[in-house]
Amino acid sequence: MKRVAILISGGGSNMLALLRDMGQGGYAEPVLVASNDTAAGGLQKAADLGVLTAAVDHRPFGKDREAFEAALAAKIDAARPDILCLAGFMRILTPGFVRRYEGRMLNIHPSLLPKYPGLHTHARALAAGDTHAGCTVHEVTAELDAGPVLGQGSVPIQPGDTEASLALRVLSLEHQLYPAVLRRFVAGDRTLVRLP
Ligand code: GAR
Repeated sequence: MKRVAILISGGGSNMLALLRDMGQGGYAEPVLVASNDTAAGGLQKAADLGVLTAAVDHRPFGKDREAFEAALAAKIDAARPDILCLAGFMRILTPGFVRRYEGRMLNIHPSLLPKYPGLHTHARALAAGDTHAGCTVHEVTAELDAGPVLGQGSVPIQPGDTEASLALRVLSLEHQLYPAVLRRFVAGDRTLVRLP
């Protein structure tokens, strides 16, 4: 069975969706949930579900991203994952880290890539007057939010939508999309998942 590690920075709702789906589907085994923030709410939720957790605080490393990543990679590699899922992991990765896990590292991003890489995706979609927003699961490559797309989910933007209301609607789609893509990816299938 494939071994999956998940990297988070916050509440970890996507992580929980992945853990639940792996628990139900039995197609992969969660071997680690790791965070760059010792206070990330998702760490306790993962531990409560019996998943091994680790935290490597990025702050003491200052600008030395490589040193932070080396410490994080040591934790990851000790868990021997086959696949790495970034789920709300909010650190930019160096090309060296990406190379180490390339081809087996996925990320979820709250926009319809290639639109709106980076931050504030929902505000940018609203400001642009877009009719739809959404989320994308993609393979992680050295260029930020630009790797091969494996899945995409789209929701209509409604009149009166705010950044918060849109984020909530997209997030619930993220919770469906990420597990659906992981299931395929584990099976070696990289064909695009489209939701709804
Ligand atoms: C999600 O919306 C995810 O798409 C986004 O952070 C949120 C994490 O929520 N990721 C990024 O913006 C990555 N650049 P969660 O911790 O509840 O899963």
